Parts: sequence; C-alpha cells; structure tokens
Amino acid sequence: MAAVKVVLIPGDGIGPEITDAVLKVLDAAGAEIEWQRCLAGLTALEEEGEVLPDSTREAIEHCGIALKGPCTTPVGEGFSSVNVQLRKTFNLYAAVRPVRNLPGVDTRYEDVDLVIIRENTEGLYSGVENEVTPGVVMSMKVATEAGCERISHWAFRYATQRQRNKITVFHKANIMKMTDGLFLRSAAAAHKRDYPNIDYDSAIIDAGCMRLVQDPTQFDILLLENLYGDVVSDLCAGLVGGLGVVPGANFGDKEAIFEAVHGSAPDIAGQNKANPLALLMSAVMMLNHLAEEHEDERFGEAAARIRDAYDACLTAGEMTADLGGKLGTAEFAQAVIARL
Ligand code: NAI
Repeated sequence: MAAVKVVLIPGDGIGPEITDAVLKVLDAAGAEIEWQRCLAGLTALEEEGEVLPDSTREAIEHCGIALKGPCTTPVGEGFSSVNVQLRKTFNLYAAVRPVRNLPGVDTRYEDVDLVIIRENTEGLYSGVENEVTPGVVMSMKVATEAGCERISHWAFRYATQRQRNKITVFHKANIMKMTDGLFLRSAAAAHKRDYPNIDYDSAIIDAGCMRLVQDPTQFDILLLENLYGDVVSDLCAGLVGGLGVVPGANFGDKEAIFEAVHGSAPDIAGQNKANPLALLMSAVMMLNHLAEEHEDERFGEAAARIRDAYDACLTAGEMTADLGGKLGTAEFAQAVIARL
C-alpha cells in the first residue's frame, strides 16, 4: 500500500524543533507517511508574503489531513490569526482536546480524564470587529442555529462512539441570552431528541471553572463555544502538567488538522527546551484517525507503540524541563525512540 500523504506545517517559534522531534519518532515507529511540507503563519508571511499561501491551502485540500506546529499571531495589532483562518477556510468546526494525567507527571490532581470539545468557527472569534467612533470599538459574537446544532450533534456522537458518559456545557446564557442561549438550547435539544443515553448538564462558566479546579474528576466531556473552549483548554492543561502535555485535533466534515493546544512559545524558541510531547500526542491522535479512515491497523499499531514508549519515558523520569525533567527537545525524542 502506498504511503498516506499528510501535510506538515512546522509553524513558528518552537514549531520547527518540536515538529522535527515528532517526525523522527513517527519515522522510527514505522508510520508510512509521505510528508508534504508547507508554510503557514509568520514564517509564511516572511517567505511568501502571506500567512496562508494558496499552495498550503491546496495541499490541505488535496491530502485532507495535516499535522501543524503552532503559529505566531501578533498581540493587539498586525495580521489576523492563521489558526482562525485555517479553521474557517476548512470549516474545522470541532476542536477536540483530551486532558489526562500521565504516568510520572506529578500534578495536584489524580484520575483526570476529560475531553474538551470546542466550537471552532463562531463566537467572538468570528473576527467581526470595528471602531464605531474614536474611543469606542466593538466585537461581534456570532452564533448560528446551524453551527450550534452541528457542534452539539458532533459532541454527542463523539461521546457515543468513545463510550463517554456525560456532556457538560459551560455557558454564560444568563448574560448573553441570545448567543449562549442558542448554544445551550441546541445542546439540550440534541440530548433530549437523539442522545438520551448520554448524561447531560450545564454550568454557568464562572462556577464551572471553580468546580474544575476543586475537582476535575467530576467532569467527563466539556462542550464549549469558541472563546470559552480556548481559555478552558489552557486551564485544564494546568490541571495535568501544563501546555506540554495536551494534544488537539480540529475536525471538519472533510479535512482534519492535528495540533497541540499550546502556542509558539517565543520565550523558549530555538533553545532545545520545548516539550514536543503535546505535538507527539496530537500525532498519535492523527495516526488513530488514519487507521480508521484507511482501515489500516498499522497506523493504530504505530500509535500504540509510541504511546507506550512515551509513557515508559515519563515513568522513568525521562522528560523535559517543563515537567521537572532534564532532557532537551531532541533528547526526549531520542529517549522515546529508544523505548519503541
Ligand atoms: P504559548 O502557549 O506559546 O506559551 C505559554 C507558556 O507556556 C510560555 O511560557 C511557553 O514557554 C510555555 N510553553 C508552551 N508550549 C510549551 C512546550 N511545548 N514546552 C514547554 N513550554 C511550553 O502561549 P503564548 O505565549 O500566549 O502565545 C505565543 C504565541 O503563540 C502567540 O503569537 C499566540 O498567538 C500563538 N498561539 C498559537 C496557537 C496555535 O498555533 N494553535 C495556540 C496558542 C497561541
């Protein structure tokens, strides 16, 4: 069977060093992938004059799948986020971020095993911002019935397929009665009509966040609109060891892009300090997805070998500095390869 084609976007900041580490592990695990390297983000802007070049867009359209390093977006000025652009271009409306304790990684909590499902295309990230008059600016929060129903059904379907028990929606429908109200009603309706076997409840997000840090084990799947999903993802990463250990995937009806939750970490870029594990875990999610899509168990086997190898490393204390270890980015990748 021919190797599967996957787009690789190294990204900015720590992106190139962590993608390099991940590629070495995937290669050593025997994953038959033909990588098509493409640019996006700041690097693409510098080299090709735009953050999302046509060649990158076409490659993703063609392959249908990408592994992506983090991309830098300037704060409070400059070009708009290529991450948001990619999600909108390919209608990647469902972001999935599993948050779990890992062996050997000391945290305040044990037995955390939750999944964040974030609506990825609407809300305040629609990018509709304008200056009404000097000194007054406005940002529009967009929710559509179609978008809210789509993500609700996606989440309940995911819960059913993965044998998860419960979905909790975090919202602020007491204040944003129309937008968050629509999101909340859509989830409740999907539950009642089509998925009564999955438990369902909801929490106003501020109280929900308090409950999360008191006892994260009370949650199973969290379903959130775009901005809340973004913020709560990082909060949840903090429950299990930080941004170095939380992977992610963005799904549309056709394309899927796998990427870590964290950003380009400019403070440690180019220093061989970044933890490549979150991207490696995203790559493992990608291999499992490929196994399903191509009905080829070899991808699933490679995924399981990689997971066992990094679990063994962590258990033995072989980890990067963010987790309390001594290994650099490249050394951690080598340690995983040695245990494959
Ligand atoms: P960040 O996630 O890049 O970094 C936050 C903190 O976590 C920093 O101290 C960083 O060193 C640390 N960190 C992040 N990933 C790490 C890793 N793998 N190993 C060890 N330490 C790690 O968030 P920040 O600083 O707010 O954003 C930096 C840039 O990243 C911005 O331009 C932002 O727009 C972009 N960003 C891109 C994302 C993406 O491409 N999906 C997601 C989030 C942010």
